Amino acid sequence: METARIILRPWKETDADVLFKYASDTVLGPLAGWPPHKSVTESREIIRTLFSNECTWAIVWKTSMEPIGCIGYLTASKSNLEIADNECEVGYWIARTYWGKGICTEALQLIIDHCFRKEGLATLWGCFFPTNPASGRVMEKCGFADTGQETFCPNLAVGGNRPVKIMKLENEKN
Ligand SMILES: CC(C)(COP(=O)(O)OP(=O)(O)OC[C@H]1O[C@@H](n2cnc3c(N)ncnc32)[C@H](O)[C@@H]1OP(=O)(O)O)[C@@H](O)C(=O)NCCC(=O)NCCS
Repeated sequence: METARIILRPWKETDADVLFKYASDTVLGPLAGWPPHKSVTESREIIRTLFSNECTWAIVWKTSMEPIGCIGYLTASKSNLEIADNECEVGYWIARTYWGKGICTEALQLIIDHCFRKEGLATLWGCFFPTNPASGRVMEKCGFADTGQETFCPNLAVGGNRPVKIMKLENEKN
């Protein structure tokens, strides 16, 4: 999947150095519910165990051909939310130096198209901490609606004790 500026492709173990460079940022991960990476070895292990699946992509910046973020979705069995089998929960992050350029919105639009057109899913969900409005704005720009509901995600390594806001996007073909 690609746009003029980015490519979404599977993660590779050889991305471990660049993943560590960005995911060791102490501000980034906690905003999304995960702790900063502590070593290249840990980043490589995360690529192996969490990122190596058909629902997770590296966001590659074409100018440098470097991964600068991650985007993907969790199916019902892995979601933080109680959702149906034909639904999923989206998640994403972008390296801090690339914030505010519309990159995540562009990447999420690719994922939406993939989930609705290729996977035929009925509904996409997403959640964000109220203290992280930029994430909610990305979903809003892609057409997600605020459900007005909040919940807790006890599975999160960081912030499981804080409520998240829940956003929702329906597949118009259903
Ligand atoms: C959330 C995140 C992915 C956004 O990436 P990005 O590429 O900068 O997003 P975009 O540029 O596509 O859009 C960001 C939008 O949020 C807005 N925004 C930024 N800070 C904001 C704030 N404090 N309050 C409200 N809106 C804010 C931007 O203005 C922009 O909206 P606009 O186009 O209407 O001006 C990035 O900040 C990030 O990685 N954060 C840490 C990880 C994270 O939060 N992941 C999501 C977990 S739910």
